Amino acid sequence: MHLGRTTLSKFLIQQLQAEGKSDLAALLVDVAAAVKAISAMTAKGGLADILGSLETQNIQGETQKKLDVLSDQAFINTFKYGGLVAGLASEENDDPITVNDLEKRGPFLAVFDPLDGSSNIDVNVSVGSIFSILEAPKDRDPTLADYLQPGTKQLAAGYAIYGPSTMLVITVGKGTHGFTLDREVGNFVMTHANIQIPVDTSEFAINTSNERFWEPPIHRYVTECKAGKTDIRARDFNMRWIASMVADVHRILMRGGVFMYPKDTKDLSKPGRLRLMYEANPMSFVIEQAGGLGSTGRARVMEVQPDNIHQRVPVILGSRNEVERIEKYHREFDSGEDSKYSSPLFSDRSLYR
Ligand code: F6P
Ligand code: MN
Repeated sequence: MHLGRTTLSKFLIQQLQAEGKSDLAALLVDVAAAVKAISAMTAKGGLADILGSLETQNIQGETQKKLDVLSDQAFINTFKYGGLVAGLASEENDDPITVNDLEKRGPFLAVFDPLDGSSNIDVNVSVGSIFSILEAPKDRDPTLADYLQPGTKQLAAGYAIYGPSTMLVITVGKGTHGFTLDREVGNFVMTHANIQIPVDTSEFAINTSNERFWEPPIHRYVTECKAGKTDIRARDFNMRWIASMVADVHRILMRGGVFMYPKDTKDLSKPGRLRLMYEANPMSFVIEQAGGLGSTGRARVMEVQPDNIHQRVPVILGSRNEVERIEKYHREFDSGEDSKYSSPLFSDRSLYR
């Protein structure tokens, strides 16, 4: 036991009670309880009958893993019976769930990805959970439209990473803070206060197998990183891709870097791979509160007005200077300013030249 260490509960009371936000503090303690349950399940791995896939698909058309469903259930039960939310929406379910029992209804809406990166479960690589808390309408049932709030309206957000240790990283709009689960005692203990992402980085994360589907600004950025010392970046870069957004973003939060799941032409029906409400908004909130940026390449993620709860967006987030550079490359492409990487609208053979 570490004497004098701040537990999550104490931290939340200190950050929120003085502002009359005890309900939000209590809700985040509930989130931590669900995370502990999921952490215990994931840690069992092959010892329990929890690995592998089910026959079912989620709303996104992805095959569900057993742990996807168990984690979803852990969050649903926590929120539904915890008395603090009026409704909840999960990446795994078609429609939000309304808390019908008025006695059990609270002032918030909870939106979550119960098990992010779940293709990694069966190979014992880190996975995570992501959550976002919004305000619920007062004195009436929440409708679908009530969930469609831009990320700037989030009251709290965060993620859990089930790695060699389990961590919970949260923000309530006053910095980003990390807590590590002390398994023997059962407490989340503050281990990373006021996390700050380095503004510059020499590390990028992208699934390069999609390279031929990228837009020119992303090509330009990655080509320059790979050229390293031999080109304008004047230093060598490193690349990492875990294929668990939580794990990739966590690394970036800890030591800097830029994470990209950009717009691509792989499937034209999808404007990106990641979901605005369950992944991009909460992660952008966490990253921005640590001094980084979250962008689609053309707009701040948290300012995108959602029109569908399962909507996907391009995501570029991490160290401030890198994200700003990538946004600049998008601007130069869209305006035709960059001759080598400009939009086809402005190419030599276009009507605009
Ligand atoms: O939730 C979607 C997700 O699993 C993310 O966690 C991850 O960053 C991404 O998909 C991986 O995508 P891909 O399999 O295309 O690399
Ligand atoms: Mn996910």
